[in-house]
Amino acid sequence: MSHPSSVPRHLAIVMDGNGRWANRRLMPRVAGHKQGVDALMNTVRACAARGIQYLTVFAFSSENWKRPQDEVSGLMSLMLSAVAKYLGSLEREGVRVRIVGDRAGISQRVRQACEECEQRTRHNTRLILTVAFNYGGRWDIVQACRRAIAAGVPAEELDEARLSGFMSMADTPDPDLFVRTGGEVRVSNFLLWQIAYSELYFTDCLWPDFDAAQLDAALAAYSARDRRFGTSQEAVPIPPDSSSSIFGD
Ligand code: IPE
Ligand code: IPE
Ligand code: MG
Repeated sequence: MSHPSSVPRHLAIVMDGNGRWANRRLMPRVAGHKQGVDALMNTVRACAARGIQYLTVFAFSSENWKRPQDEVSGLMSLMLSAVAKYLGSLEREGVRVRIVGDRAGISQRVRQACEECEQRTRHNTRLILTVAFNYGGRWDIVQACRRAIAAGVPAEELDEARLSGFMSMADTPDPDLFVRTGGEVRVSNFLLWQIAYSELYFTDCLWPDFDAAQLDAALAAYSARDRRFGTSQEAVPIPPDSSSSIFGD
């Protein structure tokens, strides 16, 4: 197992490649999405076992409404059946579930399922699983601005810290590691504000094939990264056991 400091506190994943996984098996695309739910459940467990505290996954984007109607309705039904199948396990296993995205745009049944997930798991602390559903990074920034205006924040007082407080994941640290499966090298309007300093990792693995070994490969790549946050290369790696000051006194 890797050194604890090399494990990201917050992992964000674009779960892409379900359709291609199904196509390769001559199955309908929704079968790929269904397999993707099982891959997510395995990933949640693997993340919890490795001490990751926050896992945020992209399940349905604001742009995914542009897909054929039968795929969209299949995805909505799958959301309901996934909750029915896995919510009890998540609740028992200490996972807190939160849903982010535009709730006004989803059906009442799906909205109720989201609320049930949040309500039943609200006391859990082992892993915070945030599911982005009907979510877009640009939507998130716009809704944060709107709420800041509605709260009466004066323009001259609105700074990065203040606006962060209105983003939909305000109480969650920014992702340390951003993973996208499925081979595409793009962000596709997932977290935009929050990934300013995330490490990015792209893999050709299709999401339904993502497993603990794939996760460990991403974590190994992450642990080899040198995160500088804009500092000079020398400034960051202060040895943890160094007690002498840089002036040598
Ligand atoms: C990601 O898989 C899941 C959703 C967008 C809901 P895709 O459905 O995009 O799979 P590919 O990219 O077509 O293979
Ligand atoms: C991003 O994947 C959205 C989700 C995984 C939910 P897409 O498949 O929708 O992204 P594009 O269309 O390839 O950019
Ligand atoms: Mg895709």
